[in-house]
Amino acid sequence: MEFSIKSGSPEKQRAGCVVVGVFEGRKLSTSAQAIDQAAKGFLTEVMKRGDHEGKAGTTLLLHCLTGLPSDRVLLVGLGKERELGESAYRKAIDTAVKALRTTGATDATFFLTELALRKRDTAFKVEQAVLGIMEGMYRFDRMKSKPPEQKRALRKVMLQVARRSDIAPGEAAVARAMAVAEGVGLARDLGNLPANHCTPAHLASEAQSLARQHGLACEVLDQKDLEKLGMGAFLAVARGSRQPPKLIVLEHRGAKKKDAPPVVLVGKGVTFDTGGISLKPAAEMDEMKYDMCGAASVLGTMKAIALMKLPLNVVGIVPATENMPGGNAVKPGDVVTTMSGKTVEILNTDAEGRLILCDALTYAERYKPAAVVDIATLTGAMVIALGHVATGLFANTDSLARELVHAGEASWDRAWHLPLWDDYQEGLKSNFADFPNIASRAGGAITAACFLERFAKAYPWAHLDIAGTAWKSGADKGATGRPVALLANFLTRRSA
Ligand code: BES
Ligand code: MN
Ligand code: ZN
Repeated sequence: MEFSIKSGSPEKQRAGCVVVGVFEGRKLSTSAQAIDQAAKGFLTEVMKRGDHEGKAGTTLLLHCLTGLPSDRVLLVGLGKERELGESAYRKAIDTAVKALRTTGATDATFFLTELALRKRDTAFKVEQAVLGIMEGMYRFDRMKSKPPEQKRALRKVMLQVARRSDIAPGEAAVARAMAVAEGVGLARDLGNLPANHCTPAHLASEAQSLARQHGLACEVLDQKDLEKLGMGAFLAVARGSRQPPKLIVLEHRGAKKKDAPPVVLVGKGVTFDTGGISLKPAAEMDEMKYDMCGAASVLGTMKAIALMKLPLNVVGIVPATENMPGGNAVKPGDVVTTMSGKTVEILNTDAEGRLILCDALTYAERYKPAAVVDIATLTGAMVIALGHVATGLFANTDSLARELVHAGEASWDRAWHLPLWDDYQEGLKSNFADFPNIASRAGGAITAACFLERFAKAYPWAHLDIAGTAWKSGADKGATGRPVALLANFLTRRSA
């Protein structure tokens, strides 16, 4: 997709489609008014007939308006004018793309980017438009035997800004957003790829080709290396699988000061989570192919920051394995020794994410990190707590939590800070090892964070539980690419 920034008037555009907004109550936006005037009140007439009310989520496609050089005009409902906030804006963009896909237009010019959004500048509106359009145009059909019929597809998008002085910031925003969109696209592709294709070895080879293409350093540790390091918890999870585990390390060395302490991202890479001996029920188990979305977001973010040539040192660490039952699998009650030396009683083999992450967190110490952020589809309890809107955020350092909340707001890929008080640590008691890997059901997402916190004492650390936000179920089943936008924003701020 090709994006450009323009500052022009809608009635003079010679485009495949002009996209303009209409508020609820048939109130034309400024650009819709300009078209209405050029077309001698045609839009007003159409709305009088009741064909478009401006309701959010609705569109109306009009062809060959007299007095207008464009082939089509797409009216997009914006909802109530007073309520036009970030979510309504994103919804309008998403709705417009969905409608455009059904047309034969190969280019479009969006006037939605001109709308006034409280407390948001041109850069935000342009970034969200680029990300929304790229998200809406995404398809995952590489597993189909025949590619679905290719109709003429949208190739060029002009985003209109209100003033000429907005063009330069708009163009910078397009460049940034395209880099983020590339990262989001990679994270979605890896997430959607089924587990018989997306194995730990596949993730490793994706990381290696990312490194080759973008000048990153990449190292892949195998089972033997993990044994030497004493990663007993990670290896315990991998025992039941025929697929050998991998510890993938990617490094972006962008900082002006070469040896500046890096930010380390750690992504849960369980390429399929059956639960192991503590087997999951059958319903929707296919969705456990998404249990590597934390890893996918790390690879996606590394791609985005490499494209942006971010002046910051960043290390991505991905422990990758399947969690399978079998004759060699780890059993409830087994005690393992982690790389840190602490022993863990594995009371439930389905609480495997924290077991692979704890060793990766210990491994991260060797980078003397400025901060460590782990990203994981860690708990079903997180989905119950925050649903599919906000990512759960935990941290041992409040300022780091604030940075991440802020980055989530700025990129509209939001996270919500939850408590990690000592009181919550009390459930993690074992009669046989230093501590178990589970506690009671209550506050399950917090318990998991408490477990990880015990391995993250050496640096400022935050944990993002993306169990509710990494993918969608139902008719739109698919990976979202979250939280690549949040992480890219966070790292961009850190590099300034
Ligand atoms: N990958 C799952 C968490 C998950 C479940 C994410 C459903 C999204 C949807 C994780 O490994 C897991 O199984 N967690 C258990 C922990 C429990 C055994 C303490 C859970 O949440 O049920
Ligand atoms: Mn599990
Ligand atoms: Zn899992």
